Amino acid sequence: MTKMTNTMDLLSYAVRNELEAACIYSYFADLVQGPERLTFRPYFLEERDECMEHASQVRTILLDMGASVIDHLPTTLSLKQEDLLDLDAMLHRALKLETQAANRYAKILQELGTDLETIEVRDTIEQILIAERNSMSELMRIIGD
Ligand SMILES: [Fe+2]
Repeated sequence: MTKMTNTMDLLSYAVRNELEAACIYSYFADLVQGPERLTFRPYFLEERDECMEHASQVRTILLDMGASVIDHLPTTLSLKQEDLLDLDAMLHRALKLETQAANRYAKILQELGTDLETIEVRDTIEQILIAERNSMSELMRIIGD
């Protein structure tokens, strides 16, 4: 596998995961119950929007590299009944999603190396990685409270 193909596969996988995460956050926003719903419905909707934005940014990178759109569609939703049990379960699942995303983008950055020609792509991925890490910190703070 060439370096370029490997990077494209990782980016493609990142788009699929962002779309899946957006879908999961949508469920959380609709299903969160109790007085916390007032705070957490908007929170989950914001996270959903961030995932859609990241999917769009990474898709644009892929299209610039000559990829085909159809390869990035998610085919499964790894959401379980226990993820929807209560707010605590949703927040733990959300932390898992954000941690996996951060690890994925860190790997993509590693794969992109330090070539001058990938500098713009790296800037975008670095911004996304910072956003994922911020989401992780925020979730850890909320879960710890
Ligand atoms: Fe993201």
